[in-house]
Amino acid sequence: MKRAYNFSAGPAMLPGPVIERLQDEIGNWQDTGMGAMEMSHRGAEFTSIAEKAETDLRDLLSIPESYRVLFMQGGATAQFAAVPMNLCAPGDTADYLVSGYWSRKALKEGARFCQAHIVFDTADNNDTSIPEADQWRQSGTAAFTHYVDNETIGGLRLPGVPEVDSTLVVDMSSSILSAPLKVEDYGLIYAGAQKNMGPAGLTIVIIREDLLNYQHGTIPAVLDYRKMADSGSMLNTPPTFAWYTAGLVFEWALAQGGVEKLAARSQANADRIYQAIDDSAFYSNPVAKKYRSLMNIPFMLADDSLDGLFLEQAAKHGLMSLKGHRSVGGMRASIYNAMPDEGIDALVEFMGEFERANG
Ligand SMILES: Cc1ncc(COP(=O)(O)O)c(C=O)c1O
Repeated sequence: MKRAYNFSAGPAMLPGPVIERLQDEIGNWQDTGMGAMEMSHRGAEFTSIAEKAETDLRDLLSIPESYRVLFMQGGATAQFAAVPMNLCAPGDTADYLVSGYWSRKALKEGARFCQAHIVFDTADNNDTSIPEADQWRQSGTAAFTHYVDNETIGGLRLPGVPEVDSTLVVDMSSSILSAPLKVEDYGLIYAGAQKNMGPAGLTIVIIREDLLNYQHGTIPAVLDYRKMADSGSMLNTPPTFAWYTAGLVFEWALAQGGVEKLAARSQANADRIYQAIDDSAFYSNPVAKKYRSLMNIPFMLADDSLDGLFLEQAAKHGLMSLKGHRSVGGMRASIYNAMPDEGIDALVEFMGEFERANG
């Protein structure tokens, strides 16, 4: 099967072996004569698919027993509201680090449900670096501190875990499964599946059990963590196909050697692209080195009138979806776990060729 090197930020590429499994099993999962997307979510077959996906994710991220894994819908955007709805009493304050496009969205939505307090806004430095947490202006009274681990659009990530004085809540939509993490450092981790875990439609929430009991006011049932946990994420019909496919991705990730191995590959691949950018006078990336994303690499051409030609010629080389986000312009290479090393080789080679011909 012909497969492009697809650098889309999400929905993004799935691993080749997962696509092959999907093709094999699409209409006949394990000789049942049914595809996973045709099964009752409450039947024995889908229950086994759902449980295995959770077990494998727990294995990949070493999720402790004291945390629940929820398979939700509504994307990370629904979590922007669900987090304060579930974790704040009326009038409670929540602290927000603002480090780019998605954390601004999270703040705006969160502010509808709590007193949102900004601890730092990287707009001051054009979203190119993040100060250490001891320089953040924490409110001191927050129900939680929210941040985005990896800003998918700006290509800015917060390395390490910030030390804050309240429960840490993190949006890991574009970085989950790309690096080992200590779940215990967080009260709640959430991520849309469509970048590093599977198709769109599924959102993973990993929540410390005690936070399920902290509820005030009226929360729509599908956003209520307690109700979702009590129903095994089957309060209503879950996104079964996305859940099943994410399970295949988790199996694949384990077969790759787990998150440590995937992280080493991501670092090496990102290093190669940044090297290509930094070694040239033609390409640039504005983010301070320490904060550069390993998953989403924005880069500008010295002459933006060449952007269209770059994209056209890249596509002819099978390098797809390199256009930067409309709010930033230029290019962006998203290199989640599914991107083969050959895709990085091909991109770096093409960038060199294009620069020689047009630089
Ligand atoms: C870091 C981050 N947070 C949130 C979102 C919004 O996700 P969704 O479209 O699943 O609501 C995105 C989407 O790209 C993202 O990259």
